[in-house]
Amino acid sequence: MVSSLAALRGPAVTLVDDPFAQASRACLQYHEDALVLIEDGTIRAFGPYAELRDTVPDGITPEHFPGHLLAPGFIDTHVHYPQLQMIGAFGAQLLEWLDTYTFPAEMSFADAAHAERVAKLFLRELLRAGTTTAMVYCTVHPHSVDAFFAESERFNTRMIAGKVLMDRNAPAPLLDTAQRGHDESLALIERWHGRGRQLYCVTPRFAPTSTDAQLEAAGALLKSRDGLFLQTHLCENPGEVEWVRELFPARSSYLDVYAHAGLVRPRSMFGHAVHMHEHDFCTCHQTGAGLAHCPTSNLFLGSGLFKLFEATDPRRPVKVGLGTDVGAGTSLSQLQTLNEAYKVAALAGHKLDAVQGFYLATLGSARALGFDDRLGRLAPGHEADICVLDPHATPLMAFRAGYCASIEELLFMLMTLGDDRAVRATYVAGQRVYDRDRAGDPFHLPDAA
Ligand code: GUN
Ligand code: ZN
Repeated sequence: MVSSLAALRGPAVTLVDDPFAQASRACLQYHEDALVLIEDGTIRAFGPYAELRDTVPDGITPEHFPGHLLAPGFIDTHVHYPQLQMIGAFGAQLLEWLDTYTFPAEMSFADAAHAERVAKLFLRELLRAGTTTAMVYCTVHPHSVDAFFAESERFNTRMIAGKVLMDRNAPAPLLDTAQRGHDESLALIERWHGRGRQLYCVTPRFAPTSTDAQLEAAGALLKSRDGLFLQTHLCENPGEVEWVRELFPARSSYLDVYAHAGLVRPRSMFGHAVHMHEHDFCTCHQTGAGLAHCPTSNLFLGSGLFKLFEATDPRRPVKVGLGTDVGAGTSLSQLQTLNEAYKVAALAGHKLDAVQGFYLATLGSARALGFDDRLGRLAPGHEADICVLDPHATPLMAFRAGYCASIEELLFMLMTLGDDRAVRATYVAGQRVYDRDRAGDPFHLPDAA
């Protein structure tokens, strides 16, 4: 087989360690002029251009992005693709919002053609935002998962997704049963898990919409294959937490409902975790489960303020990733999500610096997913999912960039002022699939492997 080679050149940043555990400056690697050499979708070399230029094979001209920033593609650890059509819906807190907007939107996915249309748009919006991996909720309909993975496969993106499981407390057209949900999930696992870059995630929506039997079935599914993921919601809203207490009186906490069913483990990702007690954080620390910090959603629905610096306390750190949680979240851009994460931390008296912010959106999310051996960094052996950021994307950003005296200041400016406009290009497994400035269609399906 002939190997495919590519090279990118330009200023570059990557996280190399956890800035919640040690000084931020020790965790960021920055090269003013870097080379990324890519072979068959994997980074082979990364470092200063001056040191690596002689390793570029004859016939390969690096794509050059002076004045930009090469960075690892963003990772979104919590997002619902079927909710694009009701993003920004007015006026309700979580439980009313689900009944009024979310469930009706998800019912429209009974139509497979609708699911395909939305999956196409969603994948493109992720790439436009520089996001190359996401952990995604589909709907209860198995074909919503097929539509999503089929489109992801076309772009060769590394995606983690699953069919929502709900066997109570939702409209009848959205309900499965413990047995049917199990069987449909298993069929999807067989069809998609490990096919190319697609990975399956067992997806009980949240404790109130699953019986004990369904949660037990989810635990059994998780054991059925290696490398499966789990996603669900946890401690998002006070009314929801109270409801879980009433539904599961024998359990010591909301998290204990999931633990009892064998769902709290590495590769399990719990969305929100706003109203957590110390004991819950300790359980996450001990089990290796991850939490998805979803600040735009928590602010939009009035759910509460995630205690990021308590969760990541170095005495018993919990793995935290960043989630947009669209459609309760208001943007698919991880830059905009960091903008809100900064403000949520500030309200608790903490300052989320730019290195910590970019960690959450890249390597931290990869670690929370248990995938940091392959994702979230520019480093040899890592998958070549890369976004090219443009600090001069708008007149204001260009003006402000002129007053940034360090890479940290520039990154902080990107995370406060940046959004999808600041993503110049997105590479997936070494191939450019999105180019903001390309005339006509900015998206480009990669050449077949
Ligand atoms: N809890 C249960 N389902 C959902 C959902 O779709 N979005 C959010 N934000 N919280 C939930
Ligand atoms: Zn959610």
